[in-house]
Amino acid sequence: MAKTAWYKEMAVYQIWTRSFCDGNGDGIGDLWGVLSKLDYIKSLGVDAIWFSPIYPSPNADYGYDISDYKNIHPDFGDLELFKKVLAEAHDRGLKVFMDLVVNHSSDEHPWFLESKKSRDNPYHDYYYWRPGRRLGRRQLPPNNWTSLFEGGAWEYDKDLDEYYLHLFAKKQPDLNMSNPKVREEVKDILRFWLDLGVDGFREDVVTFIAKTDGLPDCHPWIPVANGMKHYSNLPAAKEYLAEFKRDVLDHYDCFTVGESPMTTADTALRYVTEGEDQVLDEMIAFSHMEADCLATDMIRRPFNLRKMKKAFSSWQMKLQGKAWNALYIENHDHPRIISRYGSEKYHDESGKMLAAMYMLQRGTPFIYQGQEIGMTNMRLPDTDLYPDVMTQNTVRILSKFMLPSQVLKTVQEGARDNSRSPVQWSAEKNAGFSTGTPWFQVNENYAQINVAAQEEDPNSLLNFYRKLLRFRKETPVVLWGDYVELLPEDKNLYVYERNHAGRKLLVVCSFTDKQVRFQAPAGIELDEKALVLSNYDMNMVIANGFTTRPYELRVYLF
Ligand code: GLC
Ligand code: CA
Repeated sequence: MAKTAWYKEMAVYQIWTRSFCDGNGDGIGDLWGVLSKLDYIKSLGVDAIWFSPIYPSPNADYGYDISDYKNIHPDFGDLELFKKVLAEAHDRGLKVFMDLVVNHSSDEHPWFLESKKSRDNPYHDYYYWRPGRRLGRRQLPPNNWTSLFEGGAWEYDKDLDEYYLHLFAKKQPDLNMSNPKVREEVKDILRFWLDLGVDGFREDVVTFIAKTDGLPDCHPWIPVANGMKHYSNLPAAKEYLAEFKRDVLDHYDCFTVGESPMTTADTALRYVTEGEDQVLDEMIAFSHMEADCLATDMIRRPFNLRKMKKAFSSWQMKLQGKAWNALYIENHDHPRIISRYGSEKYHDESGKMLAAMYMLQRGTPFIYQGQEIGMTNMRLPDTDLYPDVMTQNTVRILSKFMLPSQVLKTVQEGARDNSRSPVQWSAEKNAGFSTGTPWFQVNENYAQINVAAQEEDPNSLLNFYRKLLRFRKETPVVLWGDYVELLPEDKNLYVYERNHAGRKLLVVCSFTDKQVRFQAPAGIELDEKALVLSNYDMNMVIANGFTTRPYELRVYLF
């Protein structure tokens, strides 16, 4: 089937179902809840929903450890209910994307249970089972890799006297994608959901699916994610993706976006450059999410605007004319953006500025549940209250050299649990998320920050998101324009232009509560009539410039 590029104009809403809306009162979000909110999602002006994994899972990593790829987690409903959600989404013109998590499965997946029965079991080679190494009387794991989530990357099985590889948690054994049978299973999963009517996939850590033959040691050794050069962006990963595309995806009109931790724009282009060799429609970047941390959210640093701008501009410029960006500032893996790059004090102002800042770039915007009302981080009083496996692993590591109070502060600011608190629908009990006891803490600011209150207020952040999404859809220069950054060295302002067919869009974002003078560059006449979006009233221009108010946003269309 000829590939159409409908995905370039769309905007996507991400649902992390467990915390979205609880329809049956057991405290866990579910597909009944989703069904009840489809009109709300549609009302935002998005075109698609991406579901973080909703398959059966022991929840070692809240759904990213899958024990059945072709079913729905009983907490969320069942396949029949999913079909209803799909049909009702389609009726509203919303596409539906699933999360494809095939770098690893759950250790409770039947394939894994079979694989560990014996070395000659037909499923043994579905995973990376390897014997240990001997060092004198000591037995060592097969190599020196460390996992991203839980200590070493190998777990020993006594019965088999072998180790299995897990790049993430122990309960997430890596699938051996070099085994053609595993690749056939992946294709089978893709066909299953596509035949059901699903419109595409977000492909979890897809740049990790190939490993160097022989799984060699990696030096110099580091305590977390040691071994990355032997599993990140290997040529075989692209070959596998090409095979999935040729054998399955090309036969459907569907969309794919890959997730690619630690990947640069140059490397991403290997996968997403349009043409014969393209294997994914878009790639999820990480570098722009590292402006207040070092490689991971859990190593905190003061926010550095220039770092953020450099990252955005690198992807914008490098993909320009060649490939399409995936744009986001929040998802289930990162703390809330207003608490990071914005200001809780200037909640609405910074929320609006941040929304326009990323959504007016070139690419497909993704919006994470609760982002549209500006949900913030939580600051729970004890690290034990943060259930995520990655958070707990980081607590263990940081506790070796940090005071408990510093560890707690890091978790409060950096944990991805921050984005997983229940969506704040109203000022009612449990923020209107559930009539039962929510599985996780509701942010106590729900009385102020909630959907119902923002529905009432024409100037709310929620209504700003709607306006912004409509503006993007209706304005060709936003959809198609070239991107040029201005003032790249400025430490307070992020300014860029988009140009297309004789039209120019100028986006001016202040990332500070301080007053900063913005002077329009030569050739641009700041005309109040050209102002199309802003987060304050009274947008005066003096001598072709203005002095910013806290987190001010101005967007001019010429
Ligand atoms: C991806 C997911 C994350 C998960 C990890 C392991 O990064 O987005 O939530 O923990 O992969 O599957
Ligand atoms: Ca429920």
